[in-house]
Amino acid sequence: MAPPSSPPTPWQRCRSSMLSGSGTWPQAGRPNTPLEHWTRTGIACVSAPSVYQKLRQRHGQAVSVYIFEYDRRFAVYGEEFIFYDYNKPLELPARIAAHSFDIVVADPPYLSEECLRKTSETIQYLAQGKILLCTGAIMEEAAATLLGVKRCKFIPQHTRNLANEFRCYVNYDSGLDQGL
Ligand SMILES: C[S@@+](CC[C@H](N)C(=O)[O-])C[C@H]1O[C@@H](n2cnc3c(N)ncnc32)[C@H](O)[C@@H]1O
Repeated sequence: MAPPSSPPTPWQRCRSSMLSGSGTWPQAGRPNTPLEHWTRTGIACVSAPSVYQKLRQRHGQAVSVYIFEYDRRFAVYGEEFIFYDYNKPLELPARIAAHSFDIVVADPPYLSEECLRKTSETIQYLAQGKILLCTGAIMEEAAATLLGVKRCKFIPQHTRNLANEFRCYVNYDSGLDQGL
């Protein structure tokens, strides 16, 4: 459910790659990790509400997903909604423990070093290890420095042509380089 009329995002293609119809997610060394794995761990969607929505739409309660978002319209998702302002990267509810998410998927709102640096603080607080970042091509160096992520061959597309080139960055074997 898109609060509101959620616009298509650069994640459109990325999501379908991650969320293969087989009910599995790509994972380092285990390309067909059973969906049950994701119910024991958790997925944090940081400034990436459409990823949260697609996961819920496709997998229902079979996955544990939280949405960290500034737009309070997403509060319709109840306890899974965590109000989040990248300007206060660690101002999170006490119930959100450090390193409690198996994977953090983030799409920071601005293409600036400051925004990425602050969002990275949040990502590092939340993540146990895996990080999937979607941001502009111009942020590649900062992303590598701040998060140790590398650009994927896969290029996210946007139905409305964006002025800035977008890319996906990961710090694990995501499968987003395969078949490209
Ligand atoms: C570049 S958009 C990415 C949207 C994403 N592709 C998705 O999944 O729909 C960034 C997101 O950051 C959110 N945002 C805006 N201001 C923010 C802030 N101060 N702190 C955190 N997130 C913010 C927007 O509401 C938006 O959902």
